[in-house]
Amino acid sequence: MKDSPPFRVLLSHDQILRRTHELARSIAAVATGEPMLLVAVIEGARPFARQLQKSLPFQLPLHEVRASSYGAGTTSAGVVEITGEPAVSCRDQNVLLLEDIVDTGRTVAALQRHFAAAGARSCRVATLLSKPSRRVAEVRLDYVGFEIPDVFVIGFGMDVAGRYRELPDVVVYDAELEASFSRAAPVR
Ligand code: IMP
Repeated sequence: MKDSPPFRVLLSHDQILRRTHELARSIAAVATGEPMLLVAVIEGARPFARQLQKSLPFQLPLHEVRASSYGAGTTSAGVVEITGEPAVSCRDQNVLLLEDIVDTGRTVAALQRHFAAAGARSCRVATLLSKPSRRVAEVRLDYVGFEIPDVFVIGFGMDVAGRYRELPDVVVYDAELEASFSRAAPVR
């Protein structure tokens, strides 16, 4: 793997795996035997969703929905666009939305409205991370891996303008550190 700037680690890969396993156990404990539709919000939630799927004591397919707030930087413009749908119908299903991070809450709120309009019976939310201090839309989060402060994080699926998704840990993005690192990198 290419060298990355030495960003500060907020959550190690091990911590993430352990917590995801705990969440899977909580989800399994309340699964009532009714069918459940696992839907990952991509791109960011893919690693979390796959890990959670593997940790469940029963097998469920993983579906995907694509949602994005406009913009390529570290702030969202507040407009949520749903650009990709699960390949199966959500009608009468208990949807479990799997998110990487809930920040303002707008994405989850928009997706819950979307699935309700599509006839889902329920739409619960499991998120790896939550930044409660940033909330704008009121959303109920059923399963939260970690509450974190108002910092922009990358890694374990999360990106800044498409970069750093592949980092195994969740780290704090620092634009100045990144700039000084690329200046210092040898030119090959
Ligand atoms: P929302 O503000 O809750 O709608 O979050 C929208 C989306 O912004 C999330 O699904 C992430 O893709 C992205 N996002 C919010 N905070 C961060 C962050 O700290 N790092 C990376 N992506 C983030």
